[in-house]
Amino acid sequence: MPNIVLIGFMASGKTTLGKKLASRLGYTFVDTDTLVEQLTGKTVAMLFEQDGEAYFRAREREVLESLKALERYVIATGGGLPCFEDNMSLLNQIGLTIYLKTSPKSITQRLLVAKKPRPLAQGKNEEELLLFVSDLLKNREQYYSQAKVTLVGKAQHLREVLDFLRVRLLEND
Ligand code: S3P
Repeated sequence: MPNIVLIGFMASGKTTLGKKLASRLGYTFVDTDTLVEQLTGKTVAMLFEQDGEAYFRAREREVLESLKALERYVIATGGGLPCFEDNMSLLNQIGLTIYLKTSPKSITQRLLVAKKPRPLAQGKNEEELLLFVSDLLKNREQYYSQAKVTLVGKAQHLREVLDFLRVRLLEND
């Protein structure tokens, strides 16, 4: 079975699901934000503040290139990663891309209580956040929709992903 690549907006549950999925499949879990932090020795928040978004996107691309050689990995990507350069087509070469599709409302609620800092979403009240999420999601949908599989809302639960992968495996037998 190929690598699994989880994509979707920030706070859509990629890391949480990715870790569970990896442990069920006996795969290794990796998160591109963590890889960027290891590569640069800075947190994502520091990179945005000190070096700017363009620098961060270039490091994300570097990390992405390094994933090409991996096997038996579940990869959770930063929310913006699929939306720059031809990253989405590279992701489709690296593994089975799964888009975790979530509504702006639920993303907004999750971001309001999230512990992980998201520089792009910082300093906004609920109303501003909902507007920001809705606009950015509208823009990013064209990239996310290039995923091989889209899981909407509840379908993101582990069992359903595993069932899906099992069916897919049987089809390939
Ligand atoms: C970003 C999402 C973040 C992180 C950075 C930028 C984005 O990752 O890469 O803050 O542009 O959507 P998560 O999707 O894990 O929050």
